[in-house]
Amino acid sequence: ISVIIIAILIHYSQIQYLSVEHPKVTYYNPKYLRYANLTTIRYGRSNPIYYVGLNLDLVVPFDSSIYIDVYFYELLTGQYKRSFIEMHFNWCHLVEKDMFFGAAMRTAGLTKPCPHGPGPINLQNMTVNPNAIPSGFPFTRGRIIANFTHPKTKTRVGDGFIDMKLAYVDKKHAKNLFFK
Ligand SMILES: *[C@@H]1O[C@H](CO)[C@@H](O)[C@H](O)[C@H]1NC(C)=O
Ligand SMILES: *[C@@H]1O[C@H](CO)[C@@H](O)[C@H](O)[C@H]1NC(C)=O
Ligand SMILES: *[C@@H]1O[C@H](CO)[C@@H](O)[C@H](O)[C@H]1NC(C)=O
Repeated sequence: ISVIIIAILIHYSQIQYLSVEHPKVTYYNPKYLRYANLTTIRYGRSNPIYYVGLNLDLVVPFDSSIYIDVYFYELLTGQYKRSFIEMHFNWCHLVEKDMFFGAAMRTAGLTKPCPHGPGPINLQNMTVNPNAIPSGFPFTRGRIIANFTHPKTKTRVGDGFIDMKLAYVDKKHAKNLFFK
C-alpha cells in the first residue's frame, strides 16, 4: 500500500516531459536549404532541460507543398525500432496548428503566417509543452526522426533526428522551465 501511496505522490508532485538530446541533421538538399542545423543547450546545472534550436536558411519559400513525416523509434536492447507513433503534416499545418512541435516553434517566434522564406529562420529555446504529451506514452527511450520532402516532385528536402526520453521534474520547479 505504501508503494501505491508513494507512486501517487510522485504522480501529483512531478510532471512528465520529453527530454531531448543529441540532435543531428542527417541531410539537406541545397535546392531547398542553404543551411540547416539543430542544436540543444542547457542553462546551468539547476535546470535539467535541454532547449532545442533550429536554424534554417530557406532557398525557396516553405509552404504547404513541403511535407514533414515524424517517426518515433523505441530504443530496445541497443537498437532503435520504429514504433506505431507517427505524425504527418505539411509545413503550414506544422507551424500554424500543431500543438506538439509547432507550438514550440510559435513560442520561439515563428508567428508569421505561411509561407515562410526565402531566408533564415532561427528558433531558439524550444521545448515540447508537457501537457501535449499523452499520459500513456508507450515507451521511455527512443529517437524522433523527421523527414522533410516535396511529394509533388518526390524530392527529399532534409532529414534529421533527436534522441528522446521521458523524464520528470518537480511541479513546483517546472513553472519557469518550459517555453523559455
Ligand atoms: C547553427 O546555426 C546558428 C545560426 O546560423 C549558428 O550560430 C550556430 O553556430 C550553428 N551551430 C552549429 C553547431 O552548427
Ligand atoms: C534563451 O534562454 C536563455 C536563458 O534563459 C536566454 O538567456 C536567451 O536570451 C534566450 N534566447 C532567446 C533567443 O530568446
Ligand atoms: C526518412 O528518411 C531517411 C533518409 O532519406 C530514410 O532512410 C528513411 O527510410 C525515411 N524514413 C521513413 C520512415 O520513410
